[in-house]
Amino acid sequence: MTRNATHETETVAALLQAAIQRLASEGNDNPRLDARLLLAHALGVEGRLHGREDDPVTVEERTHFSGFLARRIGGEPVSRILGSREFWSLEFDLSPATLDPRPDSETLIDAVLERHPDRNRAYRILDLGTGTGCLLLAALSEFPNAEGVGVDIDTECIQIARKNAEKLCLSSRARMICSRWADNVNGPFDIVLSNPPYIPTSDISQLQPEVKLHDPTQALDGGVDGLDAYRNIAESLPSLLGEDGLAVLEFGEGQGQDILRIMEASGLIVDGFRNDLAGIERCILVRRL
Ligand SMILES: C[S@@+](CC[C@H](N)C(=O)[O-])C[C@H]1O[C@@H](n2cnc3c(N)ncnc32)[C@H](O)[C@@H]1O
Repeated sequence: MTRNATHETETVAALLQAAIQRLASEGNDNPRLDARLLLAHALGVEGRLHGREDDPVTVEERTHFSGFLARRIGGEPVSRILGSREFWSLEFDLSPATLDPRPDSETLIDAVLERHPDRNRAYRILDLGTGTGCLLLAALSEFPNAEGVGVDIDTECIQIARKNAEKLCLSSRARMICSRWADNVNGPFDIVLSNPPYIPTSDISQLQPEVKLHDPTQALDGGVDGLDAYRNIAESLPSLLGEDGLAVLEFGEGQGQDILRIMEASGLIVDGFRNDLAGIERCILVRRL
C-alpha cells in the first residue's frame, strides 16, 4: 500500500471535499450526496462515512473512488454505480437488464394499501413486468400472509428478482417466472400490479442520457403510441382478476384517458386514478365487471 502523508486527499474528509468540488464544477445537482454515496461504496462502508473523516484512504480505495467519480461525471446514475436502489425503504439489487425503480412507482403501493387496509388477508398478488421485483416484494412486505407471482420477459430480470426476494426474506411467498405478460400465469388474483414500458418508441432518443443510456430499452419502449402493453394486459385482466380483484397500473404523463378507453373496451371498470407526489396522474385502478 502506498501512502503519502502530505497529500491533501489522504483522508476520507479531504478526498470527499475534493470530490464534491469536482462534481459541482461538472454541473452535478447533488454533489455532496453523490460524493458521499460513492466514497462510502468505494470504502465498502455503504452509506456510513460519519465518524471516519480522519481515516486514511488506501491507494486501492482511491482508485475505486476515482473510477466511480469518472462514471458519475460521464452521466451514469449513482444507483447504477452502486448496483442497488432503495424502493419502499427496501434495498433492491439492479442489473443492466432491470429498470432502476423510480420513487413515483411507490404510488401503486400506496393505492393498494389505501384500498386494502386489512394487512392480514392472504391476498394473491401478480406483478406484470417485475424487473427487480420491487412492486411485488414491496406489496408482500406489507401483507405478511400474502403470496405472489412476478413475471418478466427477461430471464436476467427474473434472476435478479429472485435474488432480491431472497435478500428480503420474501422468497417463500414470491414466485418469479419468465413470461410474456400473463401468458404463463393463471388467476385469479386479488391484486394485479404493473409498471409496463410506456414511452412511445420515437420519444426514446429524446430521453435524458441517464435514462436512455442506462435503463434497458425493453423496460421503456411501449411501441408506436406507448400503449402496446396496456392493450395486451387489458385483454388478460378479465380472466386474471378475482371477483373483487383490483389492478393498479402505472402510466406516463398524459396517458390516463387513452388507457381508460383501452380498459373499458376490454369490459373492465375504471375505479379511479392516483397522482404521484409531484401531482402528476400516475396510475389507474381497474376492476372486473
Ligand atoms: C418499466 S419496467 C418496470 C420494472 C419494475 N416493475 C419497476 O417498476 O421498476 C417494465 C418491465 O416489463 C418487462 N417487460 C417488457 N415487455 C414485457 C413483456 N412482453 N412481458 C413481460 N414483461 C415485459 C421489462 O423487461 C421490464 O422489466
